[in-house]
Amino acid sequence: MPSGAVVALRPVTVITGASSGIGRELALLAAKEGEVLLLGRNEAGLADVARAIGAAGGRASLLVSDGSAPDAVPAIMAHLARHGMVCDQLVNNAGIGFVGLADALAPDAQMACVDLNVRFATALALAVLPGMLAQGRGGILNVGSVAGFLPGPGMTVYYATKAYLRSLSEGLWHEVAGRGVRITLLSPGPVNTRFLERATGGARASEATLFHVDVPRVAQQGWEGFRAGRAHVIPGLANRLVLMLAPFLPRKALGAMIFRRQTARRGAA
Ligand SMILES: NC(=O)c1ccc[n+]([C@@H]2O[C@H](COP(=O)([O-])OP(=O)(O)OC[C@H]3O[C@@H](n4cnc5c(N)ncnc54)[C@H](OP(=O)(O)O)[C@@H]3O)[C@@H](O)[C@H]2O)c1
Repeated sequence: MPSGAVVALRPVTVITGASSGIGRELALLAAKEGEVLLLGRNEAGLADVARAIGAAGGRASLLVSDGSAPDAVPAIMAHLARHGMVCDQLVNNAGIGFVGLADALAPDAQMACVDLNVRFATALALAVLPGMLAQGRGGILNVGSVAGFLPGPGMTVYYATKAYLRSLSEGLWHEVAGRGVRITLLSPGPVNTRFLERATGGARASEATLFHVDVPRVAQQGWEGFRAGRAHVIPGLANRLVLMLAPFLPRKALGAMIFRRQTARRGAA
């Protein structure tokens, strides 16, 4: 190759937390439209998703990465450059949360939640956004939660991280409007994934309520909304109603209701 030749970079969709749950489903959908880079810590889980994508005729690679590590984002950017890829779309999905009282849960675990849900998601968005804007294409899908709109006693730090993500998405949406880049916030209600099991230390693996929506439906609605350039997607009618009514309900009563629900979960923990 002549020196100074310009090598075209391959546009990829980068998906954090692609090894299970909502991220896995989003990865399968994204791979129907283009190449994907799967991120997470669980190599076997990521490899399984990559195999499923390959079997369906798609193209996927993986990078084992702990999003709560301080050097996670530079390592991801270096990996993209080394392999001739550029992040065309980012799915900020990796997230953890812990059920319990803030003063009783381990501070380190709660700070790992902030590092992953807030710091990692923000740093990755800031690292890839300028490239997207320079190309006038692409977008960021942030996986928030209905928790981002509600008081969260009994899971306080997690709810606060999702409120942050909501604010981040809203701000970025305005800043990039008309510049060819999409910003979407996906706010699921409860979904039966490994999330709850992790959040309750293994005591509770699944629940069934009016608010629950299946993982594939959450991912499908989120992905379609993102591709269509919607600012906000809330899967499930019951969840949409709650968020519509929440601003008119007394905030303290809402907080007390949520506290009771989280306390019951903690009782199982
Ligand atoms: N399930 C729900 O009820 C619910 C409701 C609303 C919003 N959400 C949000 O949906 C997103 C996905 O959660 P999920 O429900 O699909 O749960 P999940 O199955 O537990 O998936 C979480 C993903 O995050 C990744 N992750 C966790 N810690 C990580 C770390 N330190 N570094 C890198 N990746 C890490 C996990 O990958 P590894 O284990 O491979 O690291 C996994 O792929 C989260 O942001 C969550 O807050 C979930």
